[in-house]
Amino acid sequence: MDYRTAFRLDGKVALVTGAARGLGREIARALAAVGAKVAVSDIIDDGARATVEWLRASGADARGFVHDVTDETQWQQTIAGTIEALGGLDILVNNAGVESGALLAECTVEDFHRIQDVNVTGTFLGCKHAIRAMSPGGAAGRGGAIVNLSSAAGMIGVIAHSAYGASKGAVRALTKAAAVECGRLGVGVRVNSLHPGLILTAMGEQLLDGLVRLGLAPDRKQAQAALLALHPIGRFGEPADVAAAVIYLASDAARWVTGAELSVDGGVVAA
Ligand SMILES: NC(=O)c1ccc[n+]([C@@H]2O[C@H](COP(=O)([O-])OP(=O)(O)OC[C@H]3O[C@@H](n4cnc5c(N)ncnc54)[C@H](O)[C@@H]3O)[C@@H](O)[C@H]2O)c1
Repeated sequence: MDYRTAFRLDGKVALVTGAARGLGREIARALAAVGAKVAVSDIIDDGARATVEWLRASGADARGFVHDVTDETQWQQTIAGTIEALGGLDILVNNAGVESGALLAECTVEDFHRIQDVNVTGTFLGCKHAIRAMSPGGAAGRGGAIVNLSSAAGMIGVIAHSAYGASKGAVRALTKAAAVECGRLGVGVRVNSLHPGLILTAMGEQLLDGLVRLGLAPDRKQAQAALLALHPIGRFGEPADVAAAVIYLASDAARWVTGAELSVDGGVVAA
């Protein structure tokens, strides 16, 4: 292995879902910074557009797609559009996700289904159509790497997050099944999951607000202190902490890594 180039993604094409803001936006920036052409998609139209403009301003070759990850037809269109516009598909980051804080006894079945639909069905459809496209004979056909955003909450219990935890546990198991299947079939596609701790994106802020709203913390300050105490490293994550791990899993440096679950959480799961 040439370690000087193993972490670079020159000549590769990546698609990042849910990239209008938060982790997805930073992951797209990171992939572009190490040489990838990047397609970004989001259900928020002007958000995907803004990310594309931001990436292009730093010299990246980027395209944007309006894309609801729960819709199979839109997956087919987004993947076909990426291959047509950027010349292939080597990396998929299934990042789009939603959370909703509710005590299990109060969680509505509608809310439960909505979370599974975006987080699990969305990731399933992404894996399905990316594997088809990346496999030999597929529209891209040169193998690839899929990174699925799970969560520390997919490995340990988090109060008021049973629906979210169930969805992220499903992403973890789906990742392993996909990795084994792709390995055994010899299609050249690696599939891994990432498990972040708390990062104060819109979703992270919503989680803190939820603890106060549900009466589980008296105010924001104490909600933040309680969650910070779960992180042995003593700080919340930054989007870049997660993006750097995506670069590794997407790159040839991780060529023998598949079906792995990588905690990027300041030590939450280890504690
Ligand atoms: N922030 C954290 O602390 C944290 C921790 C662990 C895991 N994660 C996971 O990381 C991923 C990104 O989280 P984030 O913090 O950036 O969240 P965020 O809410 O800031 O951003 C999520 C993005 O996904 C998009 N999205 C939502 N539903 C969609 C759909 N149906 N189709 C397409 N796009 C859709 C949103 O428009 C938004 O741009 C999620 O999967 C989340 O579960 C986040």
